Amino acid sequence: MPGVFQTTVDEMLRDARQASDLGVGGVILFGIPESKDANGSQAWNDDAPVQQAVRALKRELPELVVITDVCLCEYTDHGHCGVIHDGDVDNDETLEALAREAVSHARAGADIVAPSDMMDGRVGRIRAALDAEGYSTTPILSYAAKFAGPFYGPFRDAAESTPKFGDRRSYQMDSGNSDEALREVRLDIEEGADMVMVKPAGPFLDVIRRVKTETGYPLAAYQVSGEYAMIQAAAERGWIDGERVMMDSLLGIRRAGADVIITYFACDAAKLLTSQR
Ligand code: PBG
Ligand code: ZN
Repeated sequence: MPGVFQTTVDEMLRDARQASDLGVGGVILFGIPESKDANGSQAWNDDAPVQQAVRALKRELPELVVITDVCLCEYTDHGHCGVIHDGDVDNDETLEALAREAVSHARAGADIVAPSDMMDGRVGRIRAALDAEGYSTTPILSYAAKFAGPFYGPFRDAAESTPKFGDRRSYQMDSGNSDEALREVRLDIEEGADMVMVKPAGPFLDVIRRVKTETGYPLAAYQVSGEYAMIQAAAERGWIDGERVMMDSLLGIRRAGADVIITYFACDAAKLLTSQR
């Protein structure tokens, strides 16, 4: 869909420069490798697209904050976020791969690594690996409360990462349960997360507020591709005023307690915000 697609490193640099000029503070990178395999081994290839993109960004736009998404689903041929054993994701075997991926991103120069896989224990494992490799100052932004569901559709189309079998409900969270979300957030904080994330954002504003109130922790909210798609589609049909709905959707996330918002609207919102100053 328009606004949700793959780019080359050069195109990404052009987009990032534009975003930076508009006042956007940072970007998050997702990589699509040339070839996918069962273990997602391109995830920790130092010359894969994300690693190249991080190096290019830190060279060309050193002040732009570069976050990398750490997960296997963009790299596995089956599309799951971890390694498969007996038809299901093997939590503990996946941790090793995620740690190697995070270290590879840090080595390329990522300012922040952001594990989005939702395996148990991955924040602690990644923290230990980063520290051991000399990256003790690289912070971890953990996708701590990431709900399973239909809102990631446009992203998965673009990333070619729709699971080939089953779904992500054995590792992502149940939409009906905010107590579980709070437990997951607390575990990630105990394991060493520097900042936690709630995702999607709009349908989970209560979770954002609860995490902020109950933990006081630095909090990011991710307005995901499906949330963006709904607003864009309605605006394109002339059914809503896209700009105003965009701003209200972002204000709601901010009001709920997010310190940082990751959104496909970043450039559009920045344009509006700077013109209003
Ligand atoms: C990888 C990942 C996903 C998103 C961020 N990291 C997809 C998923 O879990 O299926 C969703 C992003 C979006 O919809 O913008 N695990
Ligand atoms: Zn994933």
